[in-house]
This record gives sequence, structure tokens and C-alpha cells, in this order.
Amino acid sequence: MVGKVVNILAIESSCDDTSAAVIQNEKILSNYIANQEIHSKFGGVVPELASRAHQQNIVPVVEEALKKAAMTKEELDAIAFTIGPGLLGSLIVGASYAKGLAMSLDIPMIGVNHMKGHIMAHFIDQDKPKPSFPFICLTVSGGHTQLVHVKSYSNMEVIGSTIDDAAGEAFDKAAKIMGLPYPGGPLIDKYGKDGDIEKYEFPISSLQGYDFSFSGLKTSILYFLQKEMKKNPDFIKENMSDICASYQHTIIKTLFKKLIKASKDLGIKDIAIAGGVSANSYLRSELERVGENRGWNTFIPEFQYCTDNAGMIAIAGYHQFLAGEFTSYDAAPQARLPL
Ligand code: KG4
Ligand code: ZN
Repeated sequence: MVGKVVNILAIESSCDDTSAAVIQNEKILSNYIANQEIHSKFGGVVPELASRAHQQNIVPVVEEALKKAAMTKEELDAIAFTIGPGLLGSLIVGASYAKGLAMSLDIPMIGVNHMKGHIMAHFIDQDKPKPSFPFICLTVSGGHTQLVHVKSYSNMEVIGSTIDDAAGEAFDKAAKIMGLPYPGGPLIDKYGKDGDIEKYEFPISSLQGYDFSFSGLKTSILYFLQKEMKKNPDFIKENMSDICASYQHTIIKTLFKKLIKASKDLGIKDIAIAGGVSANSYLRSELERVGENRGWNTFIPEFQYCTDNAGMIAIAGYHQFLAGEFTSYDAAPQARLPL
């Protein structure tokens, strides 16, 4: 296999973004994403509308990815796709398209775990160092929060996860309470930039071990804002920056408590972040600051590879291709799929 050029088309459709990417070995040639605006007015992803939008987007998105990569379908060696976890109706659209295309071209299909994809984004060929095994990855997204002991491309152990809301949900639900549109994470990030991180105090979960809990935090901001709004109906508007900064600080502090514990316990100083919330500017700068103090080698994905994208599925697919991990044409996607 050494020296062979491998071209893979990857498809990601696990939630509300339809994405296709073309990779040649570890180099991304194109990574095209169609966002679904429709969900913002509903305050969250509406599964049936998401599947319908994927159905409309999938053909043009794949065509665009191939065009940008200047590649024909006949040059492809395999089709990678997200097999789970995610919204079943959304996954089925991507998986069915991948299956039809792979069968018509008579090439193999590679089912990729979405959460593995987020971690594998660190191995895309870019002008920066890649983590070396073993390392710890904090994967924080809208659906999951996982602390992962990454031992190799194919051996990843989840040592901690959320027992209720994901970190991204903690952002999005608080944003919704504050009247901000979905997804609220990027807006809390934006407003929090100029705010005082210590203006308001929110509780940090006392859960032991490596697991996370964010539902208490969400309830506490709800009660806090209800109480303040009774006294001053303009409280949110007048204090948006400080509320966002203080709330965001609490989420990030909760994440770091576990990350630091895992690094100490496992004696691992290669620390990575991944997933949609790793686009958060405060998390990114805190990882650099804490990492410098603790002598960590830190790995932060490029913005385009943080939130859902097919580039991360493509790089995971490439390594599975090398390992001969193919998926049969009769495989079906799964809404729940362990790493
Ligand atoms: O990984 P992702 O795109 O989708 C899932 O697999 O869930 O993550 C989406 C999540 C959303 O909750 C969104 O609000 C959050 O990532 N997010 C952010 C930022 N950008 C995206 N949260 C905080 N700050 C950001 N800059
Ligand atoms: Zn994701």
C-alpha cells in the first residue's frame, strides 16, 4: 500500500449540515458544507426537516466537492460516509447515497463513526504538528461530550462522557433562554468576548471521576435570569456580554477540571480538543494558556474542521481504508453508536 495514491469521497449527514469532501491520501482537496438555515427559527434541529434538506442538498453538494477537487467519480477508490451516531433520518440520506454510488462504481464503502471523525480531523495534512499516540482528546459537540484516551487510529477509549446535556447543548439551551437563535454557541462566544468572566457565579458540577453534567448549570441560568428579569425586564439586554462571559467561563472551567485530572492520572501531556465547541475562542485560548502552564503539547483543529464537516470523515475513512476496514453494502446506519 505504501506509495499508493488513494482518492476517497466522503459524505457527512449526521445532523443538520450536508457535507462532502474529497481526500487524496491525507490531503483534503475539497470540503464543501451546506448549512441548513431552516432550523434557526425553530430554536433547534427539526429531524424531519433535516432529512428533507439533506435529500435536496446531497446531489449538488457531492457534485460541488468533486468539481472543487477536479476529480471524476471514476478516479475514486472508495466512498466514506457517516454511519452513526446521529439523527437516523439524516444518516440514512448520506448512507443511501454513498451505497448507490459505491455500487455503481464497484468500489468499497467505509462507514465512519462521527465522533471518531471529529478526533481524526487532527490527522489531516496541514502545516502544523499532529498529536502522537497516546493522547487525550476532549470532544465537545452539540450531541456529545467525551474525554477520549486515543491509543491509535483504531483504538480509542471513552473514559468520561456527559450524564445529561452535552457541552454544546449547554451553550445552545442558555442562548435560547436569552432569546438568541439556534445554534447559540457561536453567539455566546461572540458576546462573551467583551464581558467579565467573574461578574456572575454559576455552579460547577461536583460529579466525581471523568464524567460531566451540565443540566444543573442550565437550570441555574434559567432561575437566575427569571429572578433578575422580574426586577429589571431589560436585564438580559443590558448585561448580555457579562452573562455570556460568566456562563461560558463556567462551562470551560468544568471541562478543564476533568481534562487536567485525566492528564495527571494517565500521565499524558499531548492534549487535543475536537467537535463544534472546539471552535469556541475562549476554549481555544484557555487550552493554550493552561497547556503552557502545565507543559502540554496542545492540538486545536482549524475552524473548518471543528463543526460537522466531511473532511474529518474523509481522513478517518482513509485510515480505515489502509487498515482494510470496509463496510458491507447491506450495512445500515445507527442513531446510537459507541466509539
Ligand atoms: O460538532 P457539531 O458541529 O455537531 C454535532 O456533532 O453536534 O457541534 C455543534 C455544536 C453546537 O452546539 C454549537 O452551538 C456549538 O457546537 N458551537 C459552539 C461554537 N461553534 C459551534 N459553541 C461555542 N462556541 C462556538 N464558537
Ligand atoms: Zn459533530
